Order: sequence, then structure tokens, then C-alpha cells
Amino acid sequence: AKAPMRVAVTGAAGQIGYSLLFRIANGDVLGKDQPVILQLLEIPDEKAQKALQGVMMELEDCAFPLLVGMTAHSDPMTAFKDIDIAFLVGARPRGPGMERKDLLAANAQIFTAQGKALNAVAKRTVKVLVVGNPANTNAYIAMKSAPDLPAKNFTAMLRLDHNRALSQLAAKMGKPVGDIEKLVVWGNHSPTMYPDHRFATVGGESVKALINDPVWNKEVHIPTVGKRGAAIIEARGLSSAASAANAAIDHMHDWVLGTNGKWVTMGVPSNGEYGIPKDVIYGFPVTCENGEYKIVEGLEIDEFSRERMDHTLNELLEEQAGVKHLLS
Ligand code: NAI
Repeated sequence: AKAPMRVAVTGAAGQIGYSLLFRIANGDVLGKDQPVILQLLEIPDEKAQKALQGVMMELEDCAFPLLVGMTAHSDPMTAFKDIDIAFLVGARPRGPGMERKDLLAANAQIFTAQGKALNAVAKRTVKVLVVGNPANTNAYIAMKSAPDLPAKNFTAMLRLDHNRALSQLAAKMGKPVGDIEKLVVWGNHSPTMYPDHRFATVGGESVKALINDPVWNKEVHIPTVGKRGAAIIEARGLSSAASAANAAIDHMHDWVLGTNGKWVTMGVPSNGEYGIPKDVIYGFPVTCENGEYKIVEGLEIDEFSRERMDHTLNELLEEQAGVKHLLS
């Protein structure tokens, strides 16, 4: 049998955690032959720790054959010990009257501490996915706080945006969602993101040619994907959780087990691709093989796309500038 892999999840007693943990333990991320040990982090707060105990009781009650160990933590230094995989889900939500800079500062504190802990105790090959918002900037902070780990180990989640765009396109065309390939969502996980189907195919045909409706793209598709998170809050009274957990599973599954040449979107540190400055964590098209992702290069960028890509980049650069003084 395979040696177990250690998977840390932060914010484990939260909404997304409640969907995510059961699927990790069921083998949906690492494969049906891969035993896992869950190392779960919550804030020290008594209520949060008690809720975490309740979630762990339910995990036990599933009797998952692949779940061979599970521990609860309130300190990232113990939660991240020897881990192979980290899902950084817990973050500070925006409270009433909280300004953007306060939100950035609160999260900078969390992700500096977690980056340092990863640097100190995680496996050198750890794969980190940041889900907690602002996800790209939080991933950037964690990466900058972990100088002894390769920068490429730090990623942010744009897969929910990618999956949302896939479903919108499938519905518009009346085609099966699973047949769409080569979609990209560029940039920040925020309403400025740019879903780009210029290269996409469905059953080998061009999606752009089939839809052939630039006004729909600009005035319906792009804003619908960008504002989908807000639409779900409005409808459900709570933010997206099961779909976010599902996207986190897709992201990590594909990174570890490969995409067989298919493109997916991941927020990854730039090495200057497409004119995005080095180290900005930006949504790019990637393929994954042997546990490594590779940015798809050489795509043609037209004027409309360049403008959108720069717009979402500028937002990321502003967020970076807002936390710079907090990174030592
Ligand atoms: P939630 O509020 O239900 O759960 C968050 C949990 O994290 C809470 O239990 C809280 O105690 C915990 N937490 C907070 N700070 C922590 C810390 N420093 N260490 C460990 N745990 C900590 O929130 P939910 O719905 O689970 O969402 C989590 C995050 O994911 C939010 O920031 C949300 O905005 C983000 N999100 C990101 C998406 C994406 O596509 N990137 C999509 C949906 C949500």
C-alpha cells in the first residue's frame, strides 16, 4: 500500500471545509488508492475548536477507508508539520464597516504567519492552494513569507471562475460542458477577472465561432462570471461553499495527478509570461504533468484582451502595494 500523504486544511470548521474535508477523505483529490492524514487548523477560539471537533466526529462516522489519521490544531507550526498538501481556506472575512485596507492588513497577518510556518515545517515539495480571499494576494504574501520554499509551490484558486465560465458557455451553446477545452480565466479572483474563450473548442469546433456574439461576451458573459459570487450570496444568503470546495478539489487533483494535456486555470506566480510582472500570482492557462504545472505560452493577445488583462493586473498590483509595508 502507498504511504499516507499529509493534507492540511485551514478554516476546517467553516462552510467550505464542511464540503472539502469529506471529499479529500474519500479520495477525490489524491486518488482512490492514496491514504491521507488530515491536519486541521482553526483559530484558537473555543467555539471554533469545538465545531472542529464536531466535524471530526462526522469524518470518523463516515468510516472512510483512506482516512488513516486526523488531528486538530490551533497553531500553524504544528498543523503544517511534514505536510505534502495545504488548502489554505481560512481567512478574515470583511466585517461591517471594514475597509479594503483593513481587510488586506488582517489577512496579511494571517498569511505571513502561515507562510512562515510552511517555510519552517512543511515538506519542501508542499503544494499550497490558497482559497481564502483575497486569494491571489494572500498566496503572494504566503509565498514571500516562505523564502526557503520554491515560489512555484504557491498557487491561488481561479478554478471556480473557470468552472463557472465553462457552464455559462455550455448553456449558451447547448453543448455538454465536459466537451469544452482550452478555456482561460486571466488575472485576479475578483470581479475584474477575464474569462477568455477565444481559444476554446467544443468537440473540436471553435467556441468563439459557434457563439459568434461579441456583445454577449462583453455585456453578459464576462460580467455574469465576474459577479457570480455576489449572485450566490444574494440567492442563498451564504457565499458559495460546495462549488468552491469542488473547485479546490479540481485544482489540487489536476496539479497532483495531471491534466493529460488539457488546459485548466490556476493562479500561479508569473515568470514574466504575457507581460505579467514576476511573482504576481495571476490566473494563467496551465497544463499539469508529473506533479508540475506549466503555463501555456505563445497565445495571441488581441487589443480587447490586453486591456482586460492589464485591468485585472492593475488591481493585483494595487493589492500588493497595499501589503508591501507589512512584509518584512
Ligand atoms: P467561513 O467563514 O464559513 O469559514 C472560514 C473558517 O476559517 C472559520 O471557521 C474561521 O474560524 C476560520 N479561520 C479564520 N481565520 C483563520 C486562521 N487564521 N487560521 C485558521 N482558520 C481560520 O468561510 P467559507 O465560506 O468557508 O470561506 C472561506 C474563504 O474562502 C473566504 O475567505 C471566502 O471569501 C473564500 N472563498 C474563495 C473562493 C475562491 O474562488 N477563491 C470562493 C469562495 C470562497
